[in-house]
Amino acid sequence: VIDCVGGATTMELYEQLTAQGDKVRSLKTAKADKADVDAAIQLLLKLKVDYKEVTGQDYKAGCPPSGTAVSNDRQSENGGEEDTVDPWNVATNSAKGVDYDKLIVRFGSSKIDQELVDRIEKVSGQKPHRFLRRGIFFSHRDMNQVLDAYEKQKSFYLYTGRGPSSQAMHVGHLIPFVFTKWLQDVFDIPLVIQLTDDEKYLWKDLSLEDCHRFAEENAKDIIACGFDVNKTFIFSDLDYMGSSPEFYRNVVKVQKHVTFNQVKGIFGFSDSDCIGKISFPAIQAAPAFSSSFPQIFKGRKDVQCLIPCAIDQDPYFRMTRDVAPRIGYPKPALLHSTFFPALQGAQTKMSASDANSSIFLTDTPKQIKNKVNKHAFSGGKDTIEEHREQGGNPDIDVAFMYLTFFMEDDEQLEKIRQDYTSGILLTGELKKMLIETLQPMITAHQENRKNVTDEMVKQFMTPRPLNFNF
Ligand code: TYM
Repeated sequence: VIDCVGGATTMELYEQLTAQGDKVRSLKTAKADKADVDAAIQLLLKLKVDYKEVTGQDYKAGCPPSGTAVSNDRQSENGGEEDTVDPWNVATNSAKGVDYDKLIVRFGSSKIDQELVDRIEKVSGQKPHRFLRRGIFFSHRDMNQVLDAYEKQKSFYLYTGRGPSSQAMHVGHLIPFVFTKWLQDVFDIPLVIQLTDDEKYLWKDLSLEDCHRFAEENAKDIIACGFDVNKTFIFSDLDYMGSSPEFYRNVVKVQKHVTFNQVKGIFGFSDSDCIGKISFPAIQAAPAFSSSFPQIFKGRKDVQCLIPCAIDQDPYFRMTRDVAPRIGYPKPALLHSTFFPALQGAQTKMSASDANSSIFLTDTPKQIKNKVNKHAFSGGKDTIEEHREQGGNPDIDVAFMYLTFFMEDDEQLEKIRQDYTSGILLTGELKKMLIETLQPMITAHQENRKNVTDEMVKQFMTPRPLNFNF
């Protein structure tokens, strides 16, 4: 990655600098030992030199570096060219979707290249999941380190989550969970799943009771993905925060080490945001530290965490990785996925807040058929004659994109791509294939969900030891 010094991105450097500036100030205020103050100033100066070397700019408190996610996101809100990707918005002008290669550079993460896919195959002894074979999980942080340790019999754990803002999850939400289930199966490791009912209460016009209820409803959909109850702990923040002193201690540690300035820089909070939002990122950070789950890790604070999620969640974990060493914990590693596009096109992601953009896990076969036929953006030509002659464009065709997520057979998918491009395959025929892929998949999900009882939800959501010896 071009904008790195010693593994730190420009944003991480900026945040380290801001934190170091705060530290110098507080040491001076506290009239600390001169030696301590001098050492802190030395480090501050060194960081400033590194910063200038990397960005070509002088460090200025309160002004995050340009060329990072946040500043570019602001730019695009102002009509610039860059894609917007943050936990709340995904938008691009390109019908092909977000430029993920550029995003890797902006976010300072690393590409999941063929070499890493081969390595995952070698270490796990399993054929790589289609999400890895097709670049759907495309970016990572420190995955090689996780694999190095795993090869030396040092285990790790998985952490992912869901913000329960409504009863119904959509197909896009399945992506990280389907992949997490595969990782759990091939590496045989514990998994914690955070349901941020508190987050949704803070951000949406919903009651606490509704958010908590949605958490339990969403837990059923997550369990229906096939997770093993002996290896998985699902928790609602509203329940677990109050019952786990260790979890809350980690939240407070993070809160102490991140300034308002930093969260403003990372998340774009403003003075009129409620204070709950400002401190929430610490709550999404805490599960990345194994000591937050003493019932699973027996008090160990050094178990490495790996977080699979779509790349919209990365700002939370850039912050988490920045604080981790300062509070004595390993940085969590990450695997990032691309977005499952909205039905209307890859200019934005599938989002639950726009019902027409989404196929929900509760949709009937008929609804799926109608939505795909009516709304799925087509890369085909206007008339059959034109299409036969010139062919369609699978790169902007939503039905084709959806098939890349869910059709298992690589050869079949490649044949569809070629036939669509050459005009042999018509839009209506492509859509029919998608409908025939989605209908049984969602019906099977609904069957699995029906079999998830309240008792099972309770089991998954009870703090308890899992089947691992730490
Ligand atoms: P939420 O509920 O917005 O999303 C849940 C998970 O689904 C991913 N996601 C998508 N993936 C592919 N295509 C899409 N269209 C799409 N929409 C959402 C999200 O990236 C996420 O992985 N604050 C979080 C909850 C959370 C969390 C976590 C997520 C807490 N801790 C740790 C990931 C990892 C949220 O509201 O997610």
